[in-house]
Amino acid sequence: MDVKIGLIGKGNVGSCFLELLKKKENYLHKEYNLRIIVIAIYEYDGALINEKGLDLDKIISLKERFREHKDWKDNIKPIDSMQKINLDLCIDTTPTNPDTGKPALNHIIDALNNHIDVISSSKGPFYLKYKEIHELAKKTKTYIKYEATVASCVPILSIKDSLNGNEITSIKAILNGTSNYILSRMTSEGVAFSVALKEAQELGYAEADPTLDIEGYDAAGKLVILANELLNWSKTISDVKIKGISKITPHTIELAKLEGFTIKHLAIAEKDILFVEPRLIEKDSPLNIGGTLNVIKLQTKYAGPIIIMGRGAGGYEAASAILNDLISIQKLRKRSIE
Ligand SMILES: NC(=O)c1ccc[n+]([C@@H]2O[C@H](COP(=O)([O-])OP(=O)(O)OC[C@H]3O[C@@H](n4cnc5c(N)ncnc54)[C@H](OP(=O)(O)O)[C@@H]3O)[C@@H](O)[C@H]2O)c1
Repeated sequence: MDVKIGLIGKGNVGSCFLELLKKKENYLHKEYNLRIIVIAIYEYDGALINEKGLDLDKIISLKERFREHKDWKDNIKPIDSMQKINLDLCIDTTPTNPDTGKPALNHIIDALNNHIDVISSSKGPFYLKYKEIHELAKKTKTYIKYEATVASCVPILSIKDSLNGNEITSIKAILNGTSNYILSRMTSEGVAFSVALKEAQELGYAEADPTLDIEGYDAAGKLVILANELLNWSKTISDVKIKGISKITPHTIELAKLEGFTIKHLAIAEKDILFVEPRLIEKDSPLNIGGTLNVIKLQTKYAGPIIIMGRGAGGYEAASAILNDLISIQKLRKRSIE
């Protein structure tokens, strides 16, 4: 089966996705009889378009100079071309304005309205307009997947399919690698918040403006998606009570240690309430993970806790989640035809 795709955003995740597609080309064909043909790669100022299929080897080798490729056209927007070129699937890997969800939200809505299935790694649209996006997908009979939006490669959204015989009752998680790195360093080295933050920035774990990470907004967005998906809630980010970690001092951490506790920036969904806040947890708790890792503990009704942990960021990590979403959509399509 041929699947014609358009990628929107050729940054870190988008580029890793193209490379992963090349690496897995033979596997996808052999295992799923799938031939993925990338016919469009959109950037904010134009697009690479070739309806017979773009030369990915050449485009990958050009790296940031991809606009020099012969298939580059200036000023083409996804909305103007996605239906004309007959895309089967649109993959959005653009950044999100945290207040509006744009531009990713517009790409998703435009694709669904054109009856094109969507995969997105941008979380904003889903913590702002989860219900509306799903209603539109239902109305237009399209599939939408977004595993990479929460904990990147950790398959925490798709785990729902494996727990149909059970029931998830609450969620506790560490969903932001930057704030977890900072707290881990403050705990292990006794350094001040500002020192740990600077270190995280030097290592590339924290943005120049780290506000969304350290004040809990990034984790809150991911928590909303988790709660809506796994607990069937219908929340937006404005429903989350959010407290950051910037006021935590080495002294507070030391006091917690003396009592056998550590401080973690937890994202919690329980009893219809969503929080992101620093909390005391026991030192030997499975949530006491170090570095930039993410961990999610699902409390279930019939099987106790289920805990899943892994890298919550990284280009290839997110790209692997996108490719998995792609395979899942193809399986759903195949099933609907049979
Ligand atoms: N990196 C990760 O580890 C990771 C993991 C999971 C999810 N995500 C999410 O995935 C998305 C992409 O992340 P990233 O790290 O790949 O970011 P990135 O490197 O900044 O890539 C985003 C790309 O989208 C382009 N872009 C911006 N506005 C656009 C528009 N209107 N139309 C088309 N392209 C546009 C950007 O171009 P310019 O740079 O030229 O503006 C850039 O090439 C984000 O929403 C992020 O939160 C990232």
